[in-house]
Amino acid sequence: MTIASVARVAEASLQVVADLQLPNGAYPASPDFVAYRGYCWFRDGSFIADGMSAAGAPASATRFFGWCAATIGQHADRMTAAVEAARAGTPLDDEAMLPARFTFDGGLGLDPWWDFQLDGYGTWLWALVAHLRRHHLPAEPYLPAVRLTVDYLVSSWHRPCFDWWEEHAERVHVSTLGCIGAGLEAVLAADLLDDGRASGARAAASGIRTLVRSQGTVDGHLTKWVGRSDVDGSLAALVAPLGWISPDDPVATATVAAIEDTLADDLGVHRFADDVFYGGGRWPLLTAFHGMARLAIGDEAGARADLDWIASTATDEGLLPEQVSDRLIVPDALPRWTERWGAVATPLLWSHGEYLRLWDALGRP
Ligand code: BGC
Repeated sequence: MTIASVARVAEASLQVVADLQLPNGAYPASPDFVAYRGYCWFRDGSFIADGMSAAGAPASATRFFGWCAATIGQHADRMTAAVEAARAGTPLDDEAMLPARFTFDGGLGLDPWWDFQLDGYGTWLWALVAHLRRHHLPAEPYLPAVRLTVDYLVSSWHRPCFDWWEEHAERVHVSTLGCIGAGLEAVLAADLLDDGRASGARAAASGIRTLVRSQGTVDGHLTKWVGRSDVDGSLAALVAPLGWISPDDPVATATVAAIEDTLADDLGVHRFADDVFYGGGRWPLLTAFHGMARLAIGDEAGARADLDWIASTATDEGLLPEQVSDRLIVPDALPRWTERWGAVATPLLWSHGEYLRLWDALGRP
């Protein structure tokens, strides 16, 4: 890749995200992909907003966080019911908890989905605080939604739920724990909570760290879920940009190395070893997390190689896909997915958001 084409993909990324963002701030995950059409995820959206915030489009991020606060406000009763039930020792069923995605107007939507996921609620807190700090913005407009989210996470962080990939609801996933921990620690550090809430958040945040150290770490690296020993590509995000694992911590280096050894195929990172979704290709957004983590631990050349590889996956119009299908883990599984949902989601706005974040971290080459 030439330097110009790397910059061109950044420019296209800023443009495509801006063009597709709804006036109320919602980001579509992917505009035309049949399974995602019409929905905005807290996970994707928070990371996209983080990329836009860092890479020169803060107003877009502000609008997204406004959408998050409004959506949480719309579902305040549901959140409060979940908190009260958990406190009473009678937690709600998974189906009654908050979903991973909402329609653009903040509704629940009618399509069935693998909905009970906790990570996005932590990630929005983390990304919001990072954005407010980066641009010296006031926290007040978000405080009611932040408080509700903190109560929800404090009461439910330990529950098994679907992971980033909307799989394995029976497991406690380390990436999910890291996102929740990063969110709680961010609002604590920003001093956004009253004393009572802050002490609950501190206890939860420290409980998460203890659990991950004792049961979510094997051979010095983080693991995909509590009780499994291999890694998931999402774990790099806990090193950077989330910073929940300090780059000086040997766990950071060991996790990046384990991802490199087992999930990076030349350049480009797979989700996990037994992935069959669209045959299990390599994901630009995971490669961006890997690049950011490498940069954080001092491997700038590796991070730059990751950026170049991601740019090489863009279409002629500069659009980035969810995954690339040239080196599949299970090639035979690909037709099953294309028959069900069509071609790989392109553009995937989250891929663009992470590209922007890595591009910015590398000094906007
Ligand atoms: C991925 C999720 C993502 C969603 C929307 C799914 O295929 O597993 O992580 O949030 O797509 O992009």
